[in-house]
Amino acid sequence: MLGPTLNHPGDGAEGLLYLNGRFLRPEEGCIGVEDRGFLFGDGVYEALKILNGRCLWLSEHLARLGESCREIDLEFPWAKHPLAEILPRLAEESGIEAGLVYLQVTRGVSPRDFDYTRGLEPTVMALIRPLTFPDEVTFRRGISLQPWGDLRWARCDIKSLNLLPAVLGKRAAREQGRDEVLWVAPDGTVREGGSSNAFAVIDGVLRTHPADNFILNGITRQSLLRLAGELDVPHEVRAFTMDELEGADEAFVASTTRDVMPVKSVGGRTISDGRPGPISLQLVNRLREEAASLAGLDPPQLFSRS
Ligand code: PDD
Repeated sequence: MLGPTLNHPGDGAEGLLYLNGRFLRPEEGCIGVEDRGFLFGDGVYEALKILNGRCLWLSEHLARLGESCREIDLEFPWAKHPLAEILPRLAEESGIEAGLVYLQVTRGVSPRDFDYTRGLEPTVMALIRPLTFPDEVTFRRGISLQPWGDLRWARCDIKSLNLLPAVLGKRAAREQGRDEVLWVAPDGTVREGGSSNAFAVIDGVLRTHPADNFILNGITRQSLLRLAGELDVPHEVRAFTMDELEGADEAFVASTTRDVMPVKSVGGRTISDGRPGPISLQLVNRLREEAASLAGLDPPQLFSRS
């Protein structure tokens, strides 16, 4: 139950929490010290965009959450936590217009043991916070990537709570003055960003890594592939190498938080002329139009190349 004090206008503007059936202020949430998410990172998560107080691509995110749960043998209690109703309510009651929901599910609380018993009560948490999404200036500025040998596990298709490689990779990138880490396979194949999918336009064809066990199949990635089809942008789900990336016509990363974000350089080497390319621009505008339409907003002002 949402406490009465949370209903004052303006309250909750900085965040609202759903935890195991209750709506709380974020600072009121408590999780057991033997929660398996805390002990082992034994859980999965989702990050969803909120625009105009609405959850975007909600069914796609819930479907992926269901798949992540299945892959780690965690039976999600949908009847007890009807997320398709809870998340829109969380967004609405938070009063947050633009933000992000982190939805986290762990296997639950039990005395420490690597092995688990089936049927534990999962911990279910969703926290909404305000977030500003990239505007035209940020889009035009683009980001720099720092390539790094992929030191993650072989099940990156699961959106697991084990994020230590991303934590360390992003820090290492930042220390080099770069905005995002780029995971690269031992043979030079580009996999994805620390928390984003990687795309490149090579010889006029938009390419991205196949949705196998080496990347997370981003919801933004899936939307962009569909939109590329609708826009007749030549595209192919085929990985590219670092060499191909360095010589690409354009490149961008894509995620719920970054939308379509042009890559201006990789490891210090400028991609093309370092400015957003025409396909990146076409896709960001189409994605923003779709987001606005899902959010019940008027069509947004389109970004321009310069
Ligand atoms: N991360 N690849 C990885 C490793 C990611 O962590 C993410 C998203 C993506 C893009 O997925 P989507 O389009 O569904 O956001 C790709 C979120 C934003 C995060 O962890 O904060």
